[in-house]
Amino acid sequence: MQSGALQKCIEPTCGLEYPISDIRIECDRGHLLDIKYKDTPHISLKDIFYKRRNHSNDIFNESGVWRFRELLNFCQIDTENFDEYSKCLVSLDGAEGRLSKPYHMSKVSDYVGLKNLLLQPEGYNPSGSFKDNGMSTAVTHAKLVNINKIICASTGNTSASAAMYAANENIECDVYIPAGEVAPGKLSQAFQFGAQVIEIKGNFDDALSASLKKASEVGGYTVNSVNPFRIEGQKTIVFRALEQLDWNPPDWIVYPGGALGNTSSCGKSLMELYEWGWIKKIPRIAVVNSEGANTLHTLYNGKFEDTNLRWNKGKPDVEIIKKYYTYMDKNGIRPKTKATAIQIAKPANILKGLRALEYTNGVVTQVSDQEMMDGMALVGLNGFDCEMASGAVPAGVKKLITEEIIKKDDTVVGILTGRQKDASIPVDYHKNPQNRFANPPRT
Ligand code: F0G
Repeated sequence: MQSGALQKCIEPTCGLEYPISDIRIECDRGHLLDIKYKDTPHISLKDIFYKRRNHSNDIFNESGVWRFRELLNFCQIDTENFDEYSKCLVSLDGAEGRLSKPYHMSKVSDYVGLKNLLLQPEGYNPSGSFKDNGMSTAVTHAKLVNINKIICASTGNTSASAAMYAANENIECDVYIPAGEVAPGKLSQAFQFGAQVIEIKGNFDDALSASLKKASEVGGYTVNSVNPFRIEGQKTIVFRALEQLDWNPPDWIVYPGGALGNTSSCGKSLMELYEWGWIKKIPRIAVVNSEGANTLHTLYNGKFEDTNLRWNKGKPDVEIIKKYYTYMDKNGIRPKTKATAIQIAKPANILKGLRALEYTNGVVTQVSDQEMMDGMALVGLNGFDCEMASGAVPAGVKKLITEEIIKKDDTVVGILTGRQKDASIPVDYHKNPQNRFANPPRT
């Protein structure tokens, strides 16, 4: 039944393969995995996806993830047979991805100096971030392999999403979080949705190590973005953006960079669509790091030992990554940014991220906390809500335009990854008249 899809090591020189039913986040040689499909989906599906927007009370057509189910059919189900797919696919009543599509935000456009800028608010997902795109697919796989407990580490949004889906599917959920480093609104979601919170002294990277260790000891099911089934769901962020553009790819797709799950899923979706002949042009990916958590920026742009780290057709210089991590550990360099969502120093998907950047001729930049807050405030002035990490997108676009890397007549889609879940950040921002877009109260 599942022979048309499998799990495959991303490294071309390794290429180990496993059935879909295997529970693993890496191959036996320790490399990340992709989900691979044998068949090429027919291009006429574009019309079917469009028609499903008139969902006729089918929650899987209403879902912005499962509307594209043929392109992530790792369950190998009959995608037209409701009785069959409704038993298999996990959805929060069709809510994941339903409200997210790219919008023009005129004030952001004016500020960054780009007419054709579209921003896609993924915060309008049921748990308030893009994570629901991938959590619906990861939990679908967990159910397929009869798992009754999921586990993750998180800077807050992954845990909120995992806890929400776990509650809805009546399975257990353990979340490992860096103590004191998670936005209160995110932490409250984990508690509210009944997850077991495990506080780790340290940062996200420490929490991820602890949760992966626990998962490997007890055979736990990890739902972090190193899980290749998460990446499948997150491809639909790109599908929705492209559909809105009549499948005419933009010049750029821009993301904030944390663990690089989004970068990886964007790359995978573009590789597949291009190889299937669904798109004729490959957009360039721009990743925006916070200056305080800028490992990718440092390594990609040769700021450490003058080496530009690249995927290098599947032969990346992994030694330089290890060396940099040792250097950070030795010198007590810890990620530090007010945008705690992306306060990550060791991006777990770095190799997949590099592959995506190579395939798309991508770039990596970095912005300050102040620039992210200005970006966040500006999105608010257009009547949209996003958190500080998402403010990295307008800030990064502005920087890349100033550097003439993004040209003024380029079309750019930026992903606003999450909703505001720490009200103190905008309140403090707006109370301080020194801030560029402050809207201070009158007394
Ligand atoms: N934006 C937001 C709002 C996030 O929550 C995250 C990651 C990112 C961007 C970075 O995305 O990891 O795909 O590069 N949050 C994770 C979490 C790490 O645990 O919630 P990425």
